[in-house]
Amino acid sequence: MSDPINVINREIISPDKLIIPDPYKSDLEGVLISSGEIKSRVSKLASEISKAHYPEEILALCVLDGAMKFYADLLYNEHMWTPFEIRTFSGKSYKGTTSTGEVNLEIFDFSVVKGRKVLVVEDIIDTGHLLKKITNEIYRHKPFSLEIVCLLDKPERRDPEIDIVPEYCGFTIPNEFVVGYGLDYNNKYRGLRHICVLKKELTKP
Ligand code: IMP
Ligand code: MG
Repeated sequence: MSDPINVINREIISPDKLIIPDPYKSDLEGVLISSGEIKSRVSKLASEISKAHYPEEILALCVLDGAMKFYADLLYNEHMWTPFEIRTFSGKSYKGTTSTGEVNLEIFDFSVVKGRKVLVVEDIIDTGHLLKKITNEIYRHKPFSLEIVCLLDKPERRDPEIDIVPEYCGFTIPNEFVVGYGLDYNNKYRGLRHICVLKKELTKP
């Protein structure tokens, strides 16, 4: 099952050492995972998912907005061999850098999952509340199977009462607020190609 790359103790790379557009640069502490590493790891996840399911079709559910980039790169990947159907819906549990504990799911007809091999695609697991709510909804509608793939996992932040374990995971990261590759802070920084750590003073509530 999941054997992520552990970057919890990795040294952050100075923004000057990689190509980063100026409007972003001054807000960053540095780069935690570079775009090349993300790309290679996403391909590996695509091949693992394909190996597990080929030749059967999966129903891939994207948790918008943060997972949009990961979702597209994972599914439209040259190593994604198994057929898939796509569905997207919006789910939120964050305001700024704080998990609200309150989860908002867009009205979505979860009955589409009935009898299907479902793969939930998420950008990052933090406390786990959002995915818990989503997986509960899916289980209520009787899928054939349910798996989670996340690009990033912050295990230190998990609510001990929440038993979410992703079947596939790209990287385990430290307890830092990260942006880029689709992840945002107040809807900004999604266009950064690397996964970056924001300067602390910007994320103080
Ligand atoms: P959870 O419900 O606490 O697990 O939060 C999950 C959601 O919060 C994710 O889908 C993200 O959208 C958001 N989130 C959590 N940590 C971060 C972060 O470090 N950067 C950006 N978004 C985050
Ligand atoms: Mg998300």
